[in-house]
Amino acid sequence: MLQSFNEKNKDIFVYVKDRLVKRKDAKVSVFDSVVQGGDAVWEGLRVYDGRIFCLEHHLERLQNSAHALCFNDIPSNEEITRAIFETLKANNMMDGVHIRLTLTRGEKTTSGMDPRLNVYGCTLIVLAEWKPPVYPSSVKLMTSSVRRNNPMFLDSKIHHNNLLNNILAKIEANNAGANAGIMLDMNGFVAEANGVNLFCIQKGVVLTPFADACLPGITRKLVLDLCEENNIPCAEKNLSLLEFYTADEVFCTGTMGELTRVDEIDSRKIINKSGIERLEEINLLFMEKTKSSGTRIV
Ligand SMILES: Cc1ncc(COP(=O)(O)O)c(C=O)c1O
Repeated sequence: MLQSFNEKNKDIFVYVKDRLVKRKDAKVSVFDSVVQGGDAVWEGLRVYDGRIFCLEHHLERLQNSAHALCFNDIPSNEEITRAIFETLKANNMMDGVHIRLTLTRGEKTTSGMDPRLNVYGCTLIVLAEWKPPVYPSSVKLMTSSVRRNNPMFLDSKIHHNNLLNNILAKIEANNAGANAGIMLDMNGFVAEANGVNLFCIQKGVVLTPFADACLPGITRKLVLDLCEENNIPCAEKNLSLLEFYTADEVFCTGTMGELTRVDEIDSRKIINKSGIERLEEINLLFMEKTKSSGTRIV
């Protein structure tokens, strides 16, 4: 398993709705929309050396997701930022921290699907935990039978809490002894893995699937930007499994695990035939960015 319980998180403070409470009291109502229908949006963020990395991008994606789902009384970026700062300061957390930020449609007056039953406004949850990057130095992937959503069904650009298709892909990966499951799009091209975006490098060119059926990850975008800024050839493209199996290097990206090498997919070893190495260089550029940018916690 990639994650486990950390004693340091036993008595943390968690922000729920409008206040900080101890972990044991951090609960939402059984009438909350997230319990009733997985009706919520979320972000995972990281804290590096007293700064929240890419905070503005995470807030933008959260706000866009909540707006797309037609939430009412969405807290402003300033209110959310204040709640995050309060939580981190209450826990004395300045580094090696992962924040799970959740915004639900809120409590309902009675159980039911209709959003008009949500008359109390959104529920904001800021769950910050001591959690260094969770992925090992390299991972093994397998292809899942579960397809990733595309806009024809539920737009993967909405970062929502309906995670069951990704969870099913993860179960398949667990059963196959892999670290994560690759999810294809409805045309059979690679979309992403169940919780991370995917890249392959062919003869020095960095490639990643179009963000049509994957979450447009913030780490994914940062990697593309870093490549462009540093004259590393990169492109978004429809990519089949063969292009991943035969790539020189493959890696996954995400806030939780940063950049992680993939060394095997569906029992095919990833072999660098061209001898051109890019991943290490991109990883160094990424680490540099985490050290030099972010919103200072005040
Ligand atoms: C399905 C999925 N793909 C990719 C990612 C990585 O996105 P990011 O780089 O914004 O953390 C996440 C993270 O939440 C995710 O849930």
